[in-house]
Amino acid sequence: MDSWSKVSHQSVLLKETIDMLDVKEDGVYVDCTLGRGGHSAEILKRCPKGHLYCLDCDKEAIEQSTLRLSKIGDNFTCIHTSFMNLKEVLAKEGISSIDGLVMDLGVSSPQFDDPQRGFSYRFDARLDMRMDQSQKLDAWTVINTYSQEELFKIFKEYGEDPNAYRIAAGIVNARKEKPIDTTFELVDVIKASLPAKVLNKKGHPAKQIFQAIRIEVNQELKQLPIALRDAIEMLNPGGRIAVITFHSLEDRIVKNLFREKAVQKKADRRLPQIGMENLEFELISRKPVTAAKEELENNHRSHSAKLRGLKRKE
Ligand SMILES: C[S@@+](CC[C@H](N)C(=O)[O-])C[C@H]1O[C@@H](n2cnc3c(N)ncnc32)[C@H](O)[C@@H]1O
Repeated sequence: MDSWSKVSHQSVLLKETIDMLDVKEDGVYVDCTLGRGGHSAEILKRCPKGHLYCLDCDKEAIEQSTLRLSKIGDNFTCIHTSFMNLKEVLAKEGISSIDGLVMDLGVSSPQFDDPQRGFSYRFDARLDMRMDQSQKLDAWTVINTYSQEELFKIFKEYGEDPNAYRIAAGIVNARKEKPIDTTFELVDVIKASLPAKVLNKKGHPAKQIFQAIRIEVNQELKQLPIALRDAIEMLNPGGRIAVITFHSLEDRIVKNLFREKAVQKKADRRLPQIGMENLEFELISRKPVTAAKEELENNHRSHSAKLRGLKRKE
């Protein structure tokens, strides 16, 4: 592995993901979440006679990683788009089937650690949180224009925050005075909405709410199943999909979809089990792969990472 990724974005479960993909030297591969190119670089090194398509909705990721990957080979194409458009953008390139695809979901370190992007409650910035800087919906619009019911729903569903109701009410009350413009203003409103016994608990009181807003702004849970279904459909025999998730809501989507394709629904155990051999897909590992001790010690992002894989049978 080269050291570049450590400077900018330390890829999570890199070796495990690449092993799972079992890259063929002449295969067609897709990295749906290019980021700073950590996974793409390893795929490209292993498929000198194939082609790699790299997608990212963040323009900066496309620019930076194009430079990085061009030092390895020229058999790759970077496309600035949401992975929701996977099928359509590959069709434009004349591709209708693939040998492997990777998704490493969520935000990259350069996005999260850039104070301007407004992803983190650790930096003061205008409420933004867009991965794709060209899209209209941003965190400011969510916080200042959504109704109390809509805010409550996203805080509860996407943040799984037990204080969703109080915080939604606190935001709607605070914005009657003036709009909530920045991350620190939002943190203050969240803190002011909570009783001392909640504030004294371990962990930052805004963590779940920031996660919920980010998921809403980037439509993360809506885009994932659309892209995954298309990817599964496009897999060649022997083709593999590897997905890394960072929270239970995403992981549930991946787990359920993979099980729908690769695990026979439980029939009455007293009857003979038939039909298993007819399934077109298999799980690459029954349980999700998680980071080993060394990675856990060196990369804090790896703590919540879960890797799942699906293969179309030969
Ligand atoms: C965790 S980073 C990927 C890091 C990369 N694997 C590496 O090793 O450098 C996730 C990337 O996916 C992108 N992304 C997230 N959701 C996306 C979507 N729906 N469509 C396209 N790109 C997306 C983000 O902009 C970010 O650059």
